[in-house]
Amino acid sequence: MGVEKFAKKEVAALMSGRGSSTRVSLGAIEGLINLGAGDPDFNQPEFINKAVYDAMKAGKTHYSFTGEPDFKEAVAEYYKKYGVTVDPKTQVLVTSGGSQAIFQAFAGILNPEDELLVMDPAYTGYNAPIAYFGAKMTRARQTKDKTGIFRPDFSNIENAITDKTKAILFCTPDNPTGTVWKKKELEKLAEIAVKKDLVIISDEIYTEFVWKGKHETIIDLPGMWERTLVLMSFSKTFAWTGCRAGYIIAGPQMMKVMNSVPVGICSMPVPFQKAAVKALQDGWDFVDEMRAAYKRRIEYMAPRLNEIEGITCAYPEGAFYLFPDISALGVPSMKFAMDFFQKEKVRCAPGAGYGSAAEGHIRFALVKPVETLEEVCTRLERYVKNLPPQAPPTVP
Ligand SMILES: Cc1ncc(COP(=O)(O)O)c(C=O)c1O
Repeated sequence: MGVEKFAKKEVAALMSGRGSSTRVSLGAIEGLINLGAGDPDFNQPEFINKAVYDAMKAGKTHYSFTGEPDFKEAVAEYYKKYGVTVDPKTQVLVTSGGSQAIFQAFAGILNPEDELLVMDPAYTGYNAPIAYFGAKMTRARQTKDKTGIFRPDFSNIENAITDKTKAILFCTPDNPTGTVWKKKELEKLAEIAVKKDLVIISDEIYTEFVWKGKHETIIDLPGMWERTLVLMSFSKTFAWTGCRAGYIIAGPQMMKVMNSVPVGICSMPVPFQKAAVKALQDGWDFVDEMRAAYKRRIEYMAPRLNEIEGITCAYPEGAFYLFPDISALGVPSMKFAMDFFQKEKVRCAPGAGYGSAAEGHIRFALVKPVETLEEVCTRLERYVKNLPPQAPPTVP
């Protein structure tokens, strides 16, 4: 005990924090349905597993200082899908998953006291790394459109920019809100970034899961190559959460910044890089299967949630989360999630963790089959029915 004194001051501050509620392992609890973390329930196809083994057998077990060239080439080939040409030698950096891509991006650009502007709501995984670098997270509140989906609010974004703002980070398709940024929204953000001379961090790890509209990337808009970092991960695309594969795409100059972060060596194991090449070449039927399953889950669960009095659930445009609005039930999201877990053994994420605009919401990761989601809805109906009646609003 007392080891806090040894810790870097930002780490010491983080030691007393709670971290992300969905990433805490609970161990085995009978009857638990865990829709907390976004860990896909699909296992990768056998040919990808075999590719890992084949690579090891072939002796692909040595240093790979800056990542395997064939993996970077496969990434560049894949990203052409978004109308973008990337030089694999100078514009792709291999990371061990999206979390490390976030950390490395922040490590490359954030000085203590810099401000990083994120949306509200936003994925919680940005919070601790920003704090670690002694930077400050600021927020731009998003507002809901008539379908109930959160959308960027550009006057809130502009108002939140100060002299200390270094970068704006956004996520499309978004976790937790399900928003897919439209081309004109990306153009507006790009204009602001150029005008204010800011870096843009574009978290695009859910690109393969779009239900409405299409995924567009900001990096190819005028003036953006020299100021954009695209963060990508195999965790969701190929259900590789345990295999740790990711990458950053940036212009050659920005990539020099990223490459100068002293991580020592590319941290994605070489056999997995070799298997990742196979996944990018032949893994698309598997992605189609997952996509179809997520779509079925959304189509089942969103309407069913809307049938529960006090809950409204927007149909996500992308990613595989539902982010229902429970504000009419009058229970703070943290209490709701904890009580629902204790009484009905279903784990979901409280909105409060994603920012103040997300209070009054909970997030379900649709990482279980429809039959299990049926059971979740039954338990939720029962839980909501048994909520104590709300006190009438006090008249001032
Ligand atoms: C928006 C977003 N970015 C980044 C990550 C981290 O990705 P990884 O699991 O590959 O570390 C996640 C994970 O859930 C995420 O939802």
